[in-house]
Amino acid sequence: MANIKFFSGENIPLELHKVRMVQKLNLPPVERRVEAAAEAGNNTFLLKNKDIFLDMLTDSGVNAMSDRQTAAMLICDDSYAGSATFTRLEEKVHEIFGTKFFLPAHQGRACENIIAQAFVRPGDIIPMNFHFTTTKAHITRLGGRVEELIIDEGLQTTSDMPFKGNFDLDKLRALIERVGVEHIPFLRVEAGTNLIGGQPLSLENMRAVCGICREHGIMTVLDASLLQDNLYFIKKREAACAGMSIREITRAIADEFDIIYFSARKLGFARGGGIAMRDKALCERMKELVPMFEGFLTYGGMSVREMEAITVGLEETMDEDVISQGPIFIDFMCNELMKRGVPVVTPAGGLGCHLNAREFLPQIDDHEYPAGALAIAVYIAGGVRGMERGTLSEQREPDGTEPIADVELLRLAMPRRVFTMSQVLYAVDRIAWLHENRELVGGLRWVEEPSSLRFFFGRLEPTSDWQQKLARKFRDDFGDSL
Ligand code: F0G
Repeated sequence: MANIKFFSGENIPLELHKVRMVQKLNLPPVERRVEAAAEAGNNTFLLKNKDIFLDMLTDSGVNAMSDRQTAAMLICDDSYAGSATFTRLEEKVHEIFGTKFFLPAHQGRACENIIAQAFVRPGDIIPMNFHFTTTKAHITRLGGRVEELIIDEGLQTTSDMPFKGNFDLDKLRALIERVGVEHIPFLRVEAGTNLIGGQPLSLENMRAVCGICREHGIMTVLDASLLQDNLYFIKKREAACAGMSIREITRAIADEFDIIYFSARKLGFARGGGIAMRDKALCERMKELVPMFEGFLTYGGMSVREMEAITVGLEETMDEDVISQGPIFIDFMCNELMKRGVPVVTPAGGLGCHLNAREFLPQIDDHEYPAGALAIAVYIAGGVRGMERGTLSEQREPDGTEPIADVELLRLAMPRRVFTMSQVLYAVDRIAWLHENRELVGGLRWVEEPSSLRFFFGRLEPTSDWQQKLARKFRDDFGDSL
């Protein structure tokens, strides 16, 4: 993606790729969308693809692959043990991160399972800039506790702070002082930070955090799942790194950490995951869990085709023209929404465009899930599927109390190289219409609430007939148009 100067003065992102394979989409009429919402228990995870026009649920495993990735998938070495395909992936990971050992896993959360099982004991505390849903679930399942040390600006939805994912170093020092290093098996850095709007950390902050950990002998773990956007933001927003290549920035980050893991559904534009480290002893502590839960050490649950695609995808991640696509397109969408008065998280981060549901729907109580209601309202308004990132995505405390999320966001993820600008503008238009009619939107309540990861498969219902009213208004305003 290039930010090219246009004669007209307009700021239009320009793709540096062409599309050579397409998939037909279906845009069901609004009446069907209301029905489909009910069938899905008002949970966008449970909608069927046939009822969705633009799927902005996630960028996980749904990014468009390059011609080179697709070509690499045709020449792979399919064997249980000792596959040359695995060796190619292992060498690419070593080359990029400078690590010597690599354990494959079928996706990011599988890496989290292995790391948590190897290192977390009951009563342990795992500091991190911010939690991620699956990470926290693995740690709490083993009796550990997550402690979030994000800077205060990280939770302010509108800001001009370029690195809202940064750690508060004073909070980190205070935590170590309070709980003692013996209760901290490792510190985890999520770069970028998913649940607060794909917000990046600076290289300077990562270096400072890892420096403090080294001083105290605390192991450091990098969740590099969202690293591609973070790399681009460091290059663009951190003055000291402007002269560094993406490869140099990657290496500078990797050199700080003891363990690096990633979801290759995001980093590497494919599907899979893995854990990289420099130290043999660390590798030994995790190694036996791989054949037990994932698959043998030379595939870890991944198909050889996916491993070939990841190897090429990781190399392509080192190309600024490739990784700029997400951040530039997301920034474009956020700006278009802001022009129309829609509240979004600023600065625009990675992963997707994030709507601030508390500000969009102030009439909805936190216990009736503003972001969940907005997710289903946006689906009804345009057939656009986003993901609730707020209180619904939290887990109840063991005593049943419901923690209220720091931020109530609707994430509209931007799978890389998948949507066109007119599709993005269509989504913006329908969201702007919904914003005009926001007083029609009501809350949600549980019909079936699972005790763990409830946002994935829980079912809800609207607290009134607000969805029918919204659909009638849609018909009044748009006539026969879908
Ligand atoms: N860490 C981060 C920061 C993630 O964003 C994800 C996944 C994972 C770990 C787990 O990886 O899905 O391969 O098991 N995020 C996806 C999302 C699910 O939609 O944001 P996984």
